[in-house]
Amino acid sequence: ALVSTRQMLLDAQAGGYAVPAFNIHNLETVRVVVETAAEMRSPVILAGTPGTISYAGAKYIVDIAEAASQLHDIPIALHLDHHESFESIKALIDLGVKSVMIDGSHHDFEENIRIVSEVVKYAHARDVTVEAELGRLGGQEDDLIVDEKDALYTNPAQAAEFIERTGIDSLAVAIGTAHGMYKSEPKLDFERLAEIREQTTAPLVLHGASGIDREDIRKTIELGVTKVNVATELKIAFSDKVKEHFIDNPEANDPRKYMEPGKEAMANLIREKIDICNSANRV
Ligand code: 13P
Ligand code: ZN
Ligand code: NA
Repeated sequence: ALVSTRQMLLDAQAGGYAVPAFNIHNLETVRVVVETAAEMRSPVILAGTPGTISYAGAKYIVDIAEAASQLHDIPIALHLDHHESFESIKALIDLGVKSVMIDGSHHDFEENIRIVSEVVKYAHARDVTVEAELGRLGGQEDDLIVDEKDALYTNPAQAAEFIERTGIDSLAVAIGTAHGMYKSEPKLDFERLAEIREQTTAPLVLHGASGIDREDIRKTIELGVTKVNVATELKIAFSDKVKEHFIDNPEANDPRKYMEPGKEAMANLIREKIDICNSANRV
């Protein structure tokens, strides 16, 4: 059965590794993620944004993930990624989702706490875990001057208060990563992350991991990150190989065949990310 992210993130915290969270979109991507994770004996998180849930259909994607969890003996969570609507989170929990992110990061501190607390109350009553974000993930934040960093990045003292007052299970931090690839070399604020770790105990989440190099991801894990979110790099790997396949085979029309190169490229990247997270052979 699908699990929450409570035990897997606490295990990762105790073991000094991270659980990878891969954004999925359909049957093919769910299968590639879980089959590769199972082959490597890694716990894994399937992440679904609101766009993915409406694209795939809530009932379809929850049931596909549930099937995956029954077919493989590794911990598998279906996690709502960057959801903002309490109503739709409730509906998805009622369909069987056990792990959610309520993203109130674009609201002010007090409003973020209010929105998140409401979700925590509903979720915890149903044994569902909650991730929330404090601070804002940027576009190109490597050029930010210190004042801007202080305004946008996660404030360590506020992080402690935020976790305490909301009761969340994990905290997404803003330390210089951004969603998508980077136009110039990202510079992560490791000192801030260390300070957040010193002032808090909840598992920490790194968003925007596509485009962050191996050593930097490893360093965030050493500093307390227990969940690493990867989306864009997987989409690029998959679609690049499908495009190549159509260029080489202009007559191709069988979805059972033309998606195979994309799936294979995605699997290779997932192996690499699991290796970076150091989550293989943990189950
Ligand atoms: P990337 O697209 O940069 O990998 O970010 C993924 C993410 O944070 C999903 O929540
Ligand atoms: Zn994210
Ligand atoms: Na990124």
